[in-house]
Amino acid sequence: MRFTIHRYESAASTNDLAIRMAEQGAPEGTVIIAREQTAGRGRRGRSWLSPSGGLYLSAILRPDLPFEQLWQMAFVASVAAAEAVGDVSGLPARIKWPNDVLINGRKVCGILVEAQPACLRRASRQLKQIPDAGYRMPEPQSAICNPKSVIVGVGINVNVPEFPPEIAQEATSIAIELGHPIALEDVEKSLLALLDARYAQYLAEGFAPAFDAWKALDCTIGRRVAVDTPDGIVEGTAVEIGGNGDLIVESEGIRSRVTAGQAILQDSRDDEAGRRI
Ligand code: BTN
Repeated sequence: MRFTIHRYESAASTNDLAIRMAEQGAPEGTVIIAREQTAGRGRRGRSWLSPSGGLYLSAILRPDLPFEQLWQMAFVASVAAAEAVGDVSGLPARIKWPNDVLINGRKVCGILVEAQPACLRRASRQLKQIPDAGYRMPEPQSAICNPKSVIVGVGINVNVPEFPPEIAQEATSIAIELGHPIALEDVEKSLLALLDARYAQYLAEGFAPAFDAWKALDCTIGRRVAVDTPDGIVEGTAVEIGGNGDLIVESEGIRSRVTAGQAILQDSRDDEAGRRI
């Protein structure tokens, strides 16, 4: 795909700009990149700290995709982002459900996939649910429109030197992990190449290859988790990913299906090389 990149020194949110451009008919492959964001948005209505030094990128894609499958795009994007982070840093990047990219157990990258028009909000209101993950699947009877475009927003903490105390335990940057900064352009190039490749593969072969890659990079299954969901905290062992990208959590023999939320890994684990995952 040919990407047309629009660069900004500063933007409120590249996803907001992308949504607006998509509404105005910007073609697939339009990419917005900002050096910093003043109102960066994360999943579930959270903010995304976006000082200069990070990569803040939103891509407009136009897959012919029913709304129910939108979550797959977030998985595809998280695979591309984890591969890019691993590629440029040489460090093992893992994915925490649903699509956080971690290095050494700390979050280095987040993904926010949004539909345009926002079928989700209308569907959620019908269901009296709180809009959150950007791809939450409504009940089948309330799937009311297919998105005309899908905005894939990726935030990567590349050279962010430090984080405020309230998130310092859970956030990291590539520079912190490596002990030195790296070229932002290399991260951008790698991310766009891998996003392009994974998206093309998704369109040609379906979700299976990306899902296999996601599972190979996943560090959630088999772990003790507490998932902060719109309906409260669900605790237990993450046992599998359901057919709709849900996380299945088991506790005392009872399985719960978690559709959207923030998973906190409660046990620590090391990989074969003794690195925290
Ligand atoms: C999350 O993990 O909560 C998702 C964070 C997504 C942040 C990116 S940065 C580029 C794009 N613009 C935004 O406002 N958000 C996304």
